[in-house]
Amino acid sequence: MHGDSSTSKRTEISRGVPRFRTFERIVFFTGAGLSAESGIPTYRGQGGIWHQYSYEDFACQRAFDRDPEKVWDFHDARRAKVAACEPNAGHRVIAEVQQAKPGTVVITQNIDGLHQRAGAHSVIELHGSLWRVRCDREGINVANDQVPLVPRRCACGAYWRPDIVWFEDMLDPANIQHATDALRSCDLLVSVGTSGVVYPAAELPLIAMEAGAATIEINPEETSVSRLYQHTIRAAASEALAALWAE
Ligand code: OAD
Repeated sequence: MHGDSSTSKRTEISRGVPRFRTFERIVFFTGAGLSAESGIPTYRGQGGIWHQYSYEDFACQRAFDRDPEKVWDFHDARRAKVAACEPNAGHRVIAEVQQAKPGTVVITQNIDGLHQRAGAHSVIELHGSLWRVRCDREGINVANDQVPLVPRRCACGAYWRPDIVWFEDMLDPANIQHATDALRSCDLLVSVGTSGVVYPAAELPLIAMEAGAATIEINPEETSVSRLYQHTIRAAASEALAALWAE
């Protein structure tokens, strides 16, 4: 029982929790906690971004309309921070599962692009991406990984804005549809590192629950939705994901 560290990590997860190998259509529903081990701050809890910055000043269209330069300074700093971070073992396990089991779908609330950098594909980015910009007038969006963004205006003269679903913005209906389709037909839903308090994203896992999927929540803390999951693992994402995949 008290062997090397890999053994003790595995024994932390009870035998009653089903392992990934027994499923074929897994949905990983991920949040900021997955990227915390890469050094990217979460939004809530200790050190959370929204404790330091108010969304009314930095993360809504009204703030952008009022002072686009200030909002871009904030997002340039976030881009610089994320660009300096690497995907962690948790992102890599998810990409490996997807490679081994092609029916696997990643639905993320994260905007950092770390799933893709770890090798995951067709990631449904519910809240957009730090690495796309959208013309605030014409609505066209383009991939962009410049840090800092120069120039901050499109050729038409209007500002680029980060292609992120800010507070008070609508989610892309096509993304919701893809996510819904995947959740309806999955055999396992794994929620990783999300507080489950931001809607409508937070209610998407209910689709898989109602459709009869097995469900696992991975989060070191209890959340307001923990009781809805059949299995809860109170551990860091990288450790729990590795254990559920290795066994
Ligand atoms: P939150 O910051 O609300 O929650 C992060 C969760 O991660 C918390 O429940 C932590 O307990 C958990 N956590 C911390 N470290 C962890 C670790 N190592 N392994 C696993 N879990 C860990 O982040 P989200 O739920 O993702 O929106 O927030 C949802 C949305 O709110 C975000 O997408 C963002 C924000 O406003 C936009 O950016 C548009």
